[in-house]
Amino acid sequence: MTPEIDWSSLPFGYYPTDYNVRCAYRDGKWGEIEVTQSDTINIHMAATCLHYGQEIFEGLKAFRGKDGKIRIFRLEENAKRIRESAIGIKMEPIPEDLFREMCIKAVQLNERFIPPYGSGASLYIRPLEIGMTPRVGVKPADEFLFVIMVTPVGPYFKGGFKNTNICIMREYDRVAPRGTGRFKIGGNYAASLAAGEKAHALGYSAVLFLDPKEKKYLDECGPANFYAIKNGKYITPASDSILPSITNMTLQQLARDMGIEVECRHITVDELEDVSEAAACGTAAVTSPIGEIDDLDTGKKYVISKDGKPGPITTKFYELLSAIRLGEVEDVHGWNTVL
Ligand code: PLP
Ligand code: COI
Repeated sequence: MTPEIDWSSLPFGYYPTDYNVRCAYRDGKWGEIEVTQSDTINIHMAATCLHYGQEIFEGLKAFRGKDGKIRIFRLEENAKRIRESAIGIKMEPIPEDLFREMCIKAVQLNERFIPPYGSGASLYIRPLEIGMTPRVGVKPADEFLFVIMVTPVGPYFKGGFKNTNICIMREYDRVAPRGTGRFKIGGNYAASLAAGEKAHALGYSAVLFLDPKEKKYLDECGPANFYAIKNGKYITPASDSILPSITNMTLQQLARDMGIEVECRHITVDELEDVSEAAACGTAAVTSPIGEIDDLDTGKKYVISKDGKPGPITTKFYELLSAIRLGEVEDVHGWNTVL
């Protein structure tokens, strides 16, 4: 039975679905995949995930295509990245085949929640791994739980594909220079909440964090990577404190395919004077065009979009990315897992 959801006005939020899938690591091995309808987890009160932040996650999306088929976008890249995150904070890396099998299972079991073709919405897949061993001493767990839940979502930033304003503030860092920024761990998001809430209260959709060491270069844009178009080139920050975004990687390839040069390098704040487009990119953010960037410390306002509309390259990226994921154009790079 199709749920009564107004697909085209879905927010980016949690909507309960039928099943989630789980797998536990115990005694040095991964167990059987468990399918459950329970949306709670029974955790020991001393588990490392609760005390010492042993939590990692991923975010990817499934789409209902023009041909009615289900497509999961770049599953293999997420499978690789969650292993890096696990290694980064001393958790057990999930075998890529297990990740793949559980993702597909979670999507298929909740097929009725995949938004219909043309709705603009998608099924967000959220894999997470937590440390389960009770510990009081600061030490990694040796038992872990891997869970995949799914939920139908709409656009991350209100209003969908339209300009959004962001701000620079130096009061907070998301991560430390040699810290955990390149991993997708819950603690990084906890560290970003105060800055994010301050930005929201001031009417901005996200914070454009600066590099935590020198505060000279652009880093990440809230829960997304940042890119800009400068002199016709795609420029995006390169740094160890940034999460290697799969969407960014995808857009870089689309840019090259379009004959646009790509530069991954340090970008200074004052370079924002000379960019013709800027955007936040990520699984949730897709590619969200930025209208204006306000530096709260200097009072400087960088007006990126002079006419209030998303720029032509970002618009092209958005359209092309949707078309690939919905099976409207050929997937020449083999990015979709078609179920
Ligand atoms: N940076 C941060 C901090 C994120 O949370 C995300 C979201 O996953 C991204 C970047 C974008 O990464 P991806 O494109 O792989 O979703
Ligand atoms: C994603 O884009 O998948 C993210 O993880 C961002 C988010 C934390 C909402």
